[in-house]
Amino acid sequence: SDAVDAAVDALARGEPVLVHDAADREGEVDLIYHAADVASEAVARMRTDAGGLICTALSHDVCEAFELPFLADALDHPAVTDEDLAYDERASFSLTVNHRDTYTGITDDDRSLTITALAEAAANPDDTDFPGTFRAPGHVHLLRGAPDGLADREGHTELGLALAAAAERPPAVVVCEMLDAETGGARTPADARDYAEEHGFVYVEGRDVLDALRR
Ligand code: 5RP
Ligand code: CA
Ligand code: ZN
Ligand code: ZN
Repeated sequence: SDAVDAAVDALARGEPVLVHDAADREGEVDLIYHAADVASEAVARMRTDAGGLICTALSHDVCEAFELPFLADALDHPAVTDEDLAYDERASFSLTVNHRDTYTGITDDDRSLTITALAEAAANPDDTDFPGTFRAPGHVHLLRGAPDGLADREGHTELGLALAAAAERPPAVVVCEMLDAETGGARTPADARDYAEEHGFVYVEGRDVLDALRR
């Protein structure tokens, strides 16, 4: 669709996109950047305009190369048994990390450093010493993409990674939920669309991404 083409072009140019998953899933709109484009200003936009959790999604293959597990598989605690999410079979959460050159890890500059280094790592897994470059735990949540992407799972994790692949960029995207600053609830799709228009950003429906990019 035109919206999907526009979203792919935006990511190729280094601009963010807004993606609504589905009304019968989370019903959330995430602000999504390619990880390489997350300068400090982009972190600031995500925490002020979006307000959700700032996460970096890496493809299944990259996670395999760096031995990044699903957090639920890595933790041995009774609270992690029986994932009972209302909207999907499982969360895509992996470890949290900071670049080793960060101080606290939470400032805009620190998170930008961590995220842009993750983009570099995803572009060159063979040349990356992951544990030498990043420490866990940290302040950037990693998300692990499903093995077959959108054929396996229809989350923002896979929607963002599919758009990055279509833009011919390395498999590392940053996602952050758009929350309503007044109510604290999810921003409605209509409201998120208005935000996109105000800022000249592309808004796209998950359904359209699935139709265009799911193999
Ligand atoms: C982490 C989340 C977000 O919804 C994010 O979009 C990743 O999750 P998913 O792939 O399930 O949509 O909950 O903040
Ligand atoms: Ca599969
Ligand atoms: Zn999501
Ligand atoms: Zn969410």
